[in-house]
Parts: sequence; C-alpha cells; structure tokens
Amino acid sequence: MKIELKTPTMFSEIYIGNSVIEERLPTLLQGQTNFALTDENVYALYPDFFARWFSATEIFVMKSGEENKSFATLQAVLEKMAEAGLNRRSKLFAVGGGVVGDLGGLCAALYMRGIACVQVPTTLLAMVDSSVGGKTAIDVGGVKNLVGAFHQPETVLIDTSFLNTLPAREWKCGIGEIVKTAALDGELFARLESSDGVISMEEIEGWIEACIRFKASVVERDERECGERKCLNLGHTTAHAIELFYGLSHGESVLWGIKLETMLSISLGFCDKGYGERLLAIVDKFLALQPFPPIDFSHLPTALTLASLDKKNEDGKVVLVAPKNVGEWTVLSLSMEEYAERLQSLVL
Ligand code: NAD
Ligand code: GLY
Repeated sequence: MKIELKTPTMFSEIYIGNSVIEERLPTLLQGQTNFALTDENVYALYPDFFARWFSATEIFVMKSGEENKSFATLQAVLEKMAEAGLNRRSKLFAVGGGVVGDLGGLCAALYMRGIACVQVPTTLLAMVDSSVGGKTAIDVGGVKNLVGAFHQPETVLIDTSFLNTLPAREWKCGIGEIVKTAALDGELFARLESSDGVISMEEIEGWIEACIRFKASVVERDERECGERKCLNLGHTTAHAIELFYGLSHGESVLWGIKLETMLSISLGFCDKGYGERLLAIVDKFLALQPFPPIDFSHLPTALTLASLDKKNEDGKVVLVAPKNVGEWTVLSLSMEEYAERLQSLVL
C-alpha cells in the first residue's frame, strides 16, 4: 500500500508491505550513486541484504544505541560519504531503527546542503513513527535531539519482514508510539481499548498504516511544528527525562511518560477524568504485559529534574503535551517545582 505525504518542501512516498524492498528498491537505486547507513545489529542480521544492494564502500555500519546518535558518529558518516564520492544526486538509505533514521536523515540534510534520503525502518517504532515526517537529529550535551533539521525523506520503505528478527522488548517499544497515536486519534483509541493487549504480527500492517496515515496528515498540515504537530510530542517531556535518567529505550519511556503526564493532567483538571482513566488502563495493559523492569520511583525526583533540559521548554517552564479527552490534547506549562512536586505526590 502507498501513502503520499505532501509538504511545502517535499512529496514523500511511503510504501507499506512485506515485500516492498523487493518491489521498490531496485528502481530507487538506479541512476545515481548510493550510500547505506545501518547499525551493527541490523548489519549482522541482514548481511545478504547489504551485499546484494550496496558495495562495501557504500556502507557505513555505526554502533547501535542512543549514545551513538552523536556528533562523533555524524562526523564519521559524513567523512565516509565524502570518501565514497557522493554527489548532489546521490541517495542515502537509512536502514535501521529510529537511531539510524534520525542520524542518517541528518547526514542527508547536511551533505552538500541536502541530498535525497530513503528511510528503510527496521524496528516497529521506526515503522509507526520515526521514519515519517522528516525530523532528523542527534543528541548533544545530554539533551535529546538538540541538533537537527527537518529533512523529509523522498521515500519510506516500510517492509514488515524486518520485524521477524525484532526482539520482543523492541516490539513492545514500538507499541509505546502506537499508544501515543491512539491518545490523539479517537478511532485508534477505540481499537486499542477493545484489543486484548496483544498486537500480533498478522495485524501489524494495519496498525502501521493507521499510525502513518495519522502522522502524515498532521505533518502535511504543520510540517515545522508551529502548532498542531506539537501533539506528536504527547507524553514525551517526561519520557525524555525517564529515558535519560533510567537509560531505558525511547518507546518504553514513552509509555511511562504518557502514564505520568495523564495522571498529572487529570490532577490539574485539564484531562477529563473518565477519559484519562481509560487511557491509563490502555497504558497499564501494555506495561503489564511487558517484561520491562519496573521503574524505581524512589529515584523519580532526580529523574524529573532532567525535564528541565527538554527543548520544548519556554521561559523557564516545563512544557508538556498532555491528553485532554478523546482525540484532544493540551499544552501545559508548569514551573519545575509544580511539575516535580505534583508528579511525586501522585506516584510516591
Ligand atoms: P534503535 O534504533 O536504537 O533500535 C533498537 C534496537 O533494535 C537497536 O539495538 C537496533 O540495532 C535493533 N534493531 C533494529 N532493527 C532490528 C531488526 N529488524 N531486528 C533485530 N534488531 C533490530 O531504537 P528505535 O526504538 O528504533 O528508535 C528510537 C529512536 O528514534 C530514538 O532516538 C528517538 O529519539 C527516535 N525517534 C525519532 C522520531 C522522529 O520523528 N524522528 C520519532 C520517534 C522516535
Ligand atoms: N515524533 C514527533 C514528531 O515527528 O513530530
């Protein structure tokens, strides 16, 4: 299936299916020099894929993990792109999870002031969210996504066959962003509420399509996050603090972030109590099913101080995108003291 995303800067084509690599990659590779960025895990799992489609000089294998979404990796990749002799017509293929996609997208945005990027997401999180929408970034000074650019991918190839090798925990991280989308979209919310908490491989294509259709429509209306696109950060201020402090993966932290910010929004009277409790039940359904180690809430006061680093903050206030009612959200701006004290009183 194909979804089109039109913004003032780009017309992106998004293909979803279990054989889109076979169907689309040969054409995309033709007619110019190409470059593939991936990480060590994906490269080790799919050596034949890289050997078949790229020559050794066209591949950069980065270390996996959020800590490598860094200046050092960015520099190394850009130098390798120059060595490979890429030109303005070349294409960068980012084959991996959100870390590879964010860093690869930024390399494509910077090289010769911008070359085409093809996102080939291999995690569920990247398939339902990060590969689409053109946000690219690295982390700097302990702040997530501090340095980046909007650079829409020319094409996104969401080939669900990559999910066959995804560890259970990474699968469940992807569900974090599906829950976020459901908190913003009434139809998806109803589907998730009536599910038994297990999203299987058989039905995953439908969930990916629903999330991407929703995200694409938001990005079309507000590519640069001047207004509506802020909704896609729901739960993410607290999620980023948890991710940084506890060293949890992004998707896992997003589930905790949605939970805590929903509780906060209910307690402040912004979120309808009945709706908020239904959303909390969905989050808990997935947190309970998952073998995530529980968070030690006794460290929460220290963890929450990291929310002060979030780049959404303004005028010394912590800025949160919190749920309000079915398909509705709100931006909360709280002093650090109020944010931390309220949350602690709710969970400790
Ligand atoms: P990730 O890229 O670190 O991938 C998770 C792990 O899965 C890694 O160890 C990776 O090597 C491994 N992996 C990847 N594909 C695999 C496969 N098919 N089989 C087995 N293992 C595989 O993390 P992620 O969860 O994909 O992405 C998180 C990142 O995405 C964060 O940096 C986050 O900030 C970013 N993000 C960006 C956006 C955006 O709009 N740009 C949106 C959401 C999240
Ligand atoms: N994941 C947030 C965004 O794409 O805007």
